[in-house]
Amino acid sequence: MPLHIGLIRETAPGERRIAAIPEVVKKFQALGVQFCIERGAGEPCFYRDDDFSAEGVSFAGNATEIFGKIKLLLKVAPPTREEIAALPEGSVVAGLLEPYADPERLKLLNERRITSFALELIPRISRAQSMDALSSQATVSGYLCALIAADHSPKFFPLLTYAAGTLRPAQVLVIGAGVAGLQTIATAKRLGAQVFAYDVRPETREQVESLGARFVDTGVSAAGAGGYARDLTDEEKKQQEEALARTIARMDVLITTAAIPGRAAPRIVSAAMRSAMKPGAVIVDMAAESGGNVEGAIAGQTQNLGGVMLIGPNHLPSRMPVHASEMYAKNLFNFLSPCIRDGEWNPDWEDEIIAGACLTHAGEVRHEGVKRILGL
Ligand code: NAI
Repeated sequence: MPLHIGLIRETAPGERRIAAIPEVVKKFQALGVQFCIERGAGEPCFYRDDDFSAEGVSFAGNATEIFGKIKLLLKVAPPTREEIAALPEGSVVAGLLEPYADPERLKLLNERRITSFALELIPRISRAQSMDALSSQATVSGYLCALIAADHSPKFFPLLTYAAGTLRPAQVLVIGAGVAGLQTIATAKRLGAQVFAYDVRPETREQVESLGARFVDTGVSAAGAGGYARDLTDEEKKQQEEALARTIARMDVLITTAAIPGRAAPRIVSAAMRSAMKPGAVIVDMAAESGGNVEGAIAGQTQNLGGVMLIGPNHLPSRMPVHASEMYAKNLFNFLSPCIRDGEWNPDWEDEIIAGACLTHAGEVRHEGVKRILGL
């Protein structure tokens, strides 16, 4: 029997992406599968039901109706408790499942013996680059953070010569030069700002400089496992803070994008460092939703703190849902398509990418890192 795949409207607050766009549904179908799509699923990112219409695609009025017919559910955000309870026992769900966020969700997935794949857990090896949804979505977020900062800044970003003189370009500091931070740097540079950047991983210096930004050296290095950063010691934090405080105080704009996988975002900018900025300065904390790099940042809020604007944007990729969905849907297809053979669900559990991204299977949490961090 061909694999039946479900595509539903995302229900998480603020979520406007969809897990498969029409072009990707066609690619799945070429593998011999059938689709069942919730009516209106594509509306938040401007796709109509007609755009998905094709042989082998049926529509249903609600998610529950779909769950009765499918083996594989494509998701962006994690399934809700109700969705997990309604999914057929032994079915498969794949999406950005926030694997470290909610042990209760993992318990429910296991009770239903649901095989779940979290795209966040895909090993970051070269073969998996086309599946890397963390990178594609971080690209969207990083780009938007630069635009949000420019939109809120009371100054031009570029150097500007006008009839009565010349305006100096805005000085922008980007903290965290991972995928998102590098996109922020590139976007701020394109807007003409003078850009400075800092990251604890020493290899980022070259990447920052290749984008035409200046690297801020604090003398602290925190290269960790798998190309990610590790937590800093108290002494390293102090050294970092002192060096950064001097730079931050002279900036017009500060954009922070620092993260450590599976952990709350590192707190890098204290209230004192923030208040030392000039009135009119703008801070965008991309990490606000995961605890914040900047003291006082609140996700979804813009605060005027003594003349310094502190912005904690939320649902960033959903603010650009067309391209965010296109990138995400292609990542998801590239991950799942090798698991579909002759139109049927047939994953190769020996494949390090499939095994590595598996969160739950056959009633157990399978990912060692998740078990360790959640103390399971
Ligand atoms: P992330 O979102 O986990 O972190 C963002 C950035 O914050 C990182 O560059 C990290 O070093 C930095 N950071 C953490 N703590 C900090 C602190 N206290 N102060 C300043 N900066 C801090 O990372 P992301 O962007 O998802 O990936 C990190 C790296 O992983 C990439 O830059 C790359 O080297 C590697 N990677 C490899 C891929 C592959 O396929 N081989 C694909 C994507 C990323």
